[in-house]
Amino acid sequence: MAELSETEATPATGQPTVIVDDLHVVYRVIGAANGQDKGNSANALKRLLLRQQRPSVKEVHAIRGISFTAYEGDAIGVVGRNGSGKSTLMRAIAGLLPASQGAVYALGQPSFLGVNAALMSGLSGERNVELGCLAMGMSREEARERHDDIVEFSGLDESIKMPMRTYSTGMGARLRFAIAAAKSHDVLIVDEALATGDRDFRQKSEKRIQELRKEAGTVFLVSHSMKQITRTCNRAIWVDEGVIRMDGEAESVVQAYLDENS
Ligand SMILES: Nc1ncnc2c1ncn2[C@@H]1O[C@H](COP(=O)(O)OP(=O)(O)OP(=O)(O)O)[C@@H](O)[C@H]1O
Ligand SMILES: [Mg+2]
Repeated sequence: MAELSETEATPATGQPTVIVDDLHVVYRVIGAANGQDKGNSANALKRLLLRQQRPSVKEVHAIRGISFTAYEGDAIGVVGRNGSGKSTLMRAIAGLLPASQGAVYALGQPSFLGVNAALMSGLSGERNVELGCLAMGMSREEARERHDDIVEFSGLDESIKMPMRTYSTGMGARLRFAIAAAKSHDVLIVDEALATGDRDFRQKSEKRIQELRKEAGTVFLVSHSMKQITRTCNRAIWVDEGVIRMDGEAESVVQAYLDENS
């Protein structure tokens, strides 16, 4: 079990939903450029013809021993500089990346916004709403029932009939969030998916995150907008070079992070 750090906020009275126990994640980058070996396909072919050894494997130790427990009703903001390990941590919690040491225990299957929705660029927004609902485990009946609400929430109007590849980044993000938010999740992970939305959508999505929290779920929100974190989250985790620098009440973590990074 994870050790609770002293700075950890004692938030909701709920049950634990995610326990991260001394997690380490190591990426192995095959053919990373070192010296003359630039790792391109011509070099790979040359190595093959000359029966040379395989290219070097470089290890990136992105998460270096992270432990914390998340509870029902927690909305946890995840802050940290570029490359500090936030997305890696989120992908490991969602089960999309294996732990090289330690473990993640999660209630149900955490939903990673953008991936679980499995949207298809060649299909219309409307068809993606249908497929997204089915992919989240709804029945056809349920999917039909939720359809109009999702389209309305997305605010895409007539564009909902257009193929997704014609959508702007923000429009795609709106649709993804609208689909994911149509269902209560034990654990919902939002990794910068709201960053490209406009003001109207940001307000709507932040409100929905609060509702999901009340429905006794746990929401992780990775964002570089400190305002968004303090508006939406009760707790925040500051990730720095693969370790937790601070875990506590959102306002104080954000303040400490800003003090050091501005
Ligand atoms: N697929 C990958 N293969 C190898 N290394 C990776 C891979 N993805 C991330 N990394 C490395 O892991 C470290 C953490 O990256 P990560 O994407 O988790 O950072 P982040 O905190 O989400 O950054 P950002 O704020 O820019 O989104 C970085 O050093 C990065 O170079
Ligand atoms: Mg990231």
